[in-house]
Amino acid sequence: MNRKYRKTVIAGNWKMNKTPSQTKEFMTALKAIMPKGRWCDVALCVPAICIPAAVRAMRETRVGIGAENCHFEAKGAFTGELATDMLVDAGCKYVIIGHSERREMFGETDATVNAKVLAALEAGLTPIMCCGETLEQRQNGVTEEHIAMQIKLGLKDVPEDKIRKVIIAYEPIWAIGTGLTATPEQAQEVCENIRAVVRKLYSSKNARVISILYGGSMNEKNAYELLAQPDIDGGLIGGASLVPEKFVQIIEAANQPTV
Ligand code: PGA
Repeated sequence: MNRKYRKTVIAGNWKMNKTPSQTKEFMTALKAIMPKGRWCDVALCVPAICIPAAVRAMRETRVGIGAENCHFEAKGAFTGELATDMLVDAGCKYVIIGHSERREMFGETDATVNAKVLAALEAGLTPIMCCGETLEQRQNGVTEEHIAMQIKLGLKDVPEDKIRKVIIAYEPIWAIGTGLTATPEQAQEVCENIRAVVRKLYSSKNARVISILYGGSMNEKNAYELLAQPDIDGGLIGGASLVPEKFVQIIEAANQPTV
């Protein structure tokens, strides 16, 4: 982390877990144990049907609620989809875009990711744009090229004055939900490369202020070391964000003294 230049963000990704009633219970438990005083930006991205319960529960807090996906069109015949202004109206501040599970299981491409990032920015949402390599790509030594391509295509046409609003999440696919975590050095290396890509596409100034998160089996035990890396500005957390005590411990790890 480098809090001098950029925001530290701890974001939960609940995936397809918890009902609206369980959401209310979770939020009540979380509020009771949130650290006192100042903390980093905290987001919880929840299933669409849980958004109203989450927003209601966290109204008086600084925890931002987010969605896990959106559509890129403003409205129309897209059965089952949600437009960005629906999410804004429901009280969302964030939206996860291009999670590897959506890319692998629901046919998302760099082009749809890009269209969604643009739609989210237009609506005033903070997009959390995900990227990450497969184990095969890592073993074949093409991680850097693959991620650079995902970033370039995902950010296509994002104007200079909007790039700071984008959060990038690096999530090696082999580390998601597997209990395998990238080492702090591996995660740092990729996050540093992502920042270099942003520098080339935009400017040093923009690269310095954009928040880049690590995700993939981040938990209350390994968070401290991962977040101590200079280019890792927070975490996108799946499994460990489902348990209030674990999530709070990760927020506390993000409050550590910084470089
Ligand atoms: P995990 O999920 O923390 O359960 O590995 C992270 C993610 O997919 O965002």
